[in-house]
Amino acid sequence: MALYRRLSEGHVCPLTADRMRLVFGAGNADAELMFVGEAPGAEEDRQGKPFVGRAGKLLDALLEEIGLQREDTFVANVLKCRPPGNRDPLPEEIEECSPWLFRQIELIEPLVICTLGNFATKLLTGGKIGITKVHGSPQRHELGGRSIQLYPIFHPAAALRTEAVRELLQADFARLPALLEEARNSDRIEGRDEVAAPELGPGLPKSEPGAAAGGGSGADADADLGAPADAEAQVAKPGRPDTETAAADRSQLDLFE
Ligand code: URA
Repeated sequence: MALYRRLSEGHVCPLTADRMRLVFGAGNADAELMFVGEAPGAEEDRQGKPFVGRAGKLLDALLEEIGLQREDTFVANVLKCRPPGNRDPLPEEIEECSPWLFRQIELIEPLVICTLGNFATKLLTGGKIGITKVHGSPQRHELGGRSIQLYPIFHPAAALRTEAVRELLQADFARLPALLEEARNSDRIEGRDEVAAPELGPGLPKSEPGAAAGGGSGADADADLGAPADAEAQVAKPGRPDTETAAADRSQLDLFE
């Protein structure tokens, strides 16, 4: 059964009762570049799509500045359901939801993941350092059985609130094309097919999401510029232009069939 169907049918979460729609994630299932935000906001909850409010508009504008479009990427969140009143995700919610994100990463096999704000950054790096200190510093991590370049950046919602943050976010975005090119080169050298059998994520068993938890670490969020939800757009899914068509087909099918 497709991952989306499994999630929409089998996701038992403390937030289900309060949210309108599940926000699975959207975009190119074979994307080289993935963005991971915090949680759906009001507009995302209404539309069932990630980043469809003001923060999403800014994300689109920043992508355009570096010659990319939303359709080139896959966008997901740590939580798939909106926390009431856009409050911060709770540790138990992150623990419940994160296996689905790890499974998405495993299927999409991105080369670079931009973690937007504190919650995504702390979850995927497994670290405790806030986004203000780590933004703009790429770090390699083993995720979904492969080595992936994580690139922590400020959450666009924080950039909407503070001009200085917007400038930092823009500067970090400007480094993305080079980072992607670097990741493509090392991917070519390492060979995508020679990686170990996929794991669901750090410390996660190889069972399906929902059957087991683990990996959550958003509990220690700084109150700094992590930034929650409230923003924007929709996505298509062209294919990665090169190689791995088998993997691409598998991802497309698993995610969207
Ligand atoms: N903020 C998020 O973290 N995610 C969304 O999908 C929208 C706003």
